[in-house]
Amino acid sequence: MVELTINKALADSGPLVYLETFGCQMNQLDSELVRGHLSALGYRFTRDPDEAGVLLYNTCSVRQQAENKALSRLGLLGREKEEGRELIIGVLGCMAEREGAGLLTKMPQIDFLCGPGELDRVPMLIDNARRNEIVSREDRLALQGNRSRRTGTLAAAEDHLESLDLSRSFDPDSAAAGGRSAYVRITRGCNKFCTYCVVPSTRGAEVHRPPDAIVEECRSLAAQGVVEVTLLGQTVNHYRYVHGMALDEQGRELPQVGPGAAAFRSGQSGDGERITTFANLLRRIHDEVPGILRLRFVTSYPRDFGDDILEVMASSERICPYLHVPLQSGSDRILSLMNRGYDVATYLEFVDRVLHHLPHASIAGDLIVGFPTETEEDFQATCDLVRRIPFKNNFVFTYSPRPGTAAMSRFEDDIPGPVKRRRINELLAIQSEVSGTVHKALEGTLQQVFVERVSPQQQRASGGIELGWESPGMQFSGRTPGDLITVFDAPRGTPPESLIGKILPVRISGSAPRLLTGVFESAQAALTV
Ligand code: SAH
Ligand code: SF4
Ligand code: F3S
Repeated sequence: MVELTINKALADSGPLVYLETFGCQMNQLDSELVRGHLSALGYRFTRDPDEAGVLLYNTCSVRQQAENKALSRLGLLGREKEEGRELIIGVLGCMAEREGAGLLTKMPQIDFLCGPGELDRVPMLIDNARRNEIVSREDRLALQGNRSRRTGTLAAAEDHLESLDLSRSFDPDSAAAGGRSAYVRITRGCNKFCTYCVVPSTRGAEVHRPPDAIVEECRSLAAQGVVEVTLLGQTVNHYRYVHGMALDEQGRELPQVGPGAAAFRSGQSGDGERITTFANLLRRIHDEVPGILRLRFVTSYPRDFGDDILEVMASSERICPYLHVPLQSGSDRILSLMNRGYDVATYLEFVDRVLHHLPHASIAGDLIVGFPTETEEDFQATCDLVRRIPFKNNFVFTYSPRPGTAAMSRFEDDIPGPVKRRRINELLAIQSEVSGTVHKALEGTLQQVFVERVSPQQQRASGGIELGWESPGMQFSGRTPGDLITVFDAPRGTPPESLIGKILPVRISGSAPRLLTGVFESAQAALTV
């Protein structure tokens, strides 16, 4: 268990905490854990930054734009602090780790920094700041630096973060889909070193959580009403846990540093006893926690995605046929400069295997345009590939040079802004056509939709005022097993809370590039959850 290091009385009488999250799902889960930890210590939270005394920003560093969002908040707060507002400002997450102590000099309004590998220390950092004494610079910093990579095994063995995950107190009130959807981490960090990416330095070496801890967490979430679990890791298919290596004092297995790519080329498969592979893990969760009606995972890596995983997916009805597998570029030359470790032929072969095993699979990805030296020809190769693969959607980004990455030190950011913007727009237009075709093919089908919320369009149309359930034409928004957003009309007189978090049969009647539309088929046919 995480030690309750803080003076509880201090927390009980303390200021309200506001916590804002930027970036990926990993950050959202981190924020949930920080929130749970602080709540257990007596801190109370507010959604209104103006009434908070402690403001925490869990930041992302993946692109400059992501950092800018947090920086602009911090700039405004700096002014408020100068004008006399009493505030404690903590910067958590990847930007804290990437910038390091220098950020305290640049922005003196910040009270402390805490990297993603040290989040169990947030209460102590708040405590230090609240004591109102002059604390040393070290007492305001909780960063990993390069420590985790240099002493990887040690760091994993002493992993306090694991205790944070293990002591998770799930709060259905703040979780998605009425408390029915949750993330579960399977790996931390990344060992891939794509040349453009900050994640391996902000999140440290790849560490794999023990399968028993993961299954237990899923079981506990299911017992609390969760029906959809999304497993998280930077490259989930590289999950591999070798048993019998190291145990803690209670005989529980410890997190373990990733084995490196060689393990995947040896062809040694997992048996679930000596080695648990990603395929074994999926099978275990599916079979041992039947209360999870939807098991999903992000993000997959296009290399080393074996047929064993596809076979488990195909034979497990509660595993969603959804894959998020970033391609990044359709040019072999650019993929090699990115150090992605695969070529276009490998990606295409992977897609063929997916569609062979799972004909109804939906595939999503990420793409970067304007990587240094990207020619019109390279870019057209990406466009051609996007036309060829039935991607349900692609997140398309313009290359953003990140300090400390190999790409930034090796290459000039030589593609002008207007060219990057033209390329992103062109690619988004192509993707929109492809998405339109993928969505259209589903018209007429019956889809099991996991209902997440009253449809945002409807909320906007009502000016944010909550509609009574008697209102005609109540619309809900949810997702199919393939992660396609579906908006559907609920029968008149259905109280919203009776539908959110349920899985309902919806007949798809129309489509657009971004969503499906449909009609709730029948109350009797609904899966009772
Ligand atoms: N682990 C995942 C991705 C994590 S980052 C994977 O490897 O697939 C999410 C996405 O951000 C990446 O897929 C990439 O498309 C984008 N990205 C990362 N660094 C970037 C950069 N410097 N500039 C632009 N996009 C970037
Ligand atoms: Fe970044 Fe590459 Fe790791 Fe993804 S696989 S997190 S893009 S280094
Ligand atoms: Fe951003 Fe860190 Fe996630 S850089 S994308 S918050 S891993």
